[in-house]
Amino acid sequence: MVRKARDPATGEIPVDPYVQGDANAGAHPFAGDGMARAFGGQAGIRRITDRTLDLSVADPRIKAIFEEHDMVRLRRTLFEQVCFILNAGCRYSGRDMKVAHKGLGTTRADLNALVEHLQQAMREAHVSFPAQNRLLAKLAPMDRTVTER
Ligand code: HEM
Repeated sequence: MVRKARDPATGEIPVDPYVQGDANAGAHPFAGDGMARAFGGQAGIRRITDRTLDLSVADPRIKAIFEEHDMVRLRRTLFEQVCFILNAGCRYSGRDMKVAHKGLGTTRADLNALVEHLQQAMREAHVSFPAQNRLLAKLAPMDRTVTER
């Protein structure tokens, strides 16, 4: 893989140009502020998405998939995506799920592992079960877009 240099201002590696927009997040946001509150607002969401990634890069089942990828960017864009979907006051500036996961070769088992980590992170943050399940239901239809086998 040819790596571009990190942008000194953001610490991120530039990606190929794409059209930005909330539609790239792959799901419509919840109405009202109930879900944002259930997740502890932007600070709570940040802890949950960071924890999900920390658990994922430490998991021998899936850690190799994240090697060589820009985790600075993924931390930012995953936070934005979840924050946008929970209607917690963010815009999503990342790529769409198909483009972002193309060529990664992720499987259903990889996805299950990632979801386990998200569930653990939500549990540790004391997000109620109904609110956890509402977020998971928003992500579930993305399954075939983020996996290839
Ligand atoms: C519903 C499930 C998933 C969601 C919501 C999600 C979300 C995202 C987001 C927001 C990005 C960044 C887009 C961008 O850079 O513009 C991304 C990229 C990435 N995702 Fe996922 N993802 C999911 C499943 C997975 C799974 C199962 C894996 C592997 C175990 C994975 C590995 C990656 C990697 C390695 C990248 C970086 C790609 C690159 O550097 O170009 N994702 N994902």
